[in-house]
Amino acid sequence: MDVTIFDNAGEAGRALARRVAEALRRTPDLVIGLPAGRTPVEAYTELCRLYSEGEVDFSRATAFLLDEFVGLDGSRAGSFRRFVTEHLLSGINLDPQRTHSLNGLASDPEVECERYEETIAGCGGLGLLMLGIGVNGHVGFNEPGATLQARTHKVALLESTRSENAGPFGGVAARVPKEALSIGMGTILRAETIVLVATGERKARAVRAMLRGPLTTRLPASLLQLHRRVEVYLDRQAAAAL
Ligand code: GLP
Repeated sequence: MDVTIFDNAGEAGRALARRVAEALRRTPDLVIGLPAGRTPVEAYTELCRLYSEGEVDFSRATAFLLDEFVGLDGSRAGSFRRFVTEHLLSGINLDPQRTHSLNGLASDPEVECERYEETIAGCGGLGLLMLGIGVNGHVGFNEPGATLQARTHKVALLESTRSENAGPFGGVAARVPKEALSIGMGTILRAETIVLVATGERKARAVRAMLRGPLTTRLPASLLQLHRRVEVYLDRQAAAAL
């Protein structure tokens, strides 16, 4: 994995945004994977700025959000669709017809996950996958455990993950949905290029295990070691344990 360490989170985010913009200039019909979470917000803000200055154009691109809470409409507070809309989609020119997300209200989650997997495959797979990493080493919502799933699937969220995501739910972990839909580890590992961003000292342990630890389903991000094109953007705090 190709690691770059920046002085602070702002610099890491802006570098990631420039990386995405450069990929779009080379491949205007790029298929991009978009994470939620606080970490990519710096990069999203910068992408909106670059778009407003005419330096990046998403008009031919396609996007797939990585995950969504079960039971939440994409317009509801706390939903990942709404989060990414507020921080990125509302400020750029991605075609809504080509901006895909998992439907947390789908009556049959299995059918919904299969639909998503097939839609991604139908677009030729993810070209540039932006990723964050959970404090516990999850990517998307592929939680640590005895096993991992290759394809898009429904996942039972760990209590620690619900606490981590409590912000938009009034800070109350019990209000965070217990389940989510997430693209799978296979979906992630089939992406052509992965750009992962991690900032802050709370991520330092997971970052070290991802880069230096054994491959283990107990730390899903460690499987990224199997991928031949992963670029990791860190600030100094997230790199502190390396
Ligand atoms: C969330 C999301 C991930 C995200 C991670 C880190 O739960 N499912 O896609 O990368 O956890 O979030 P944050 O960036 O807020 O630390």
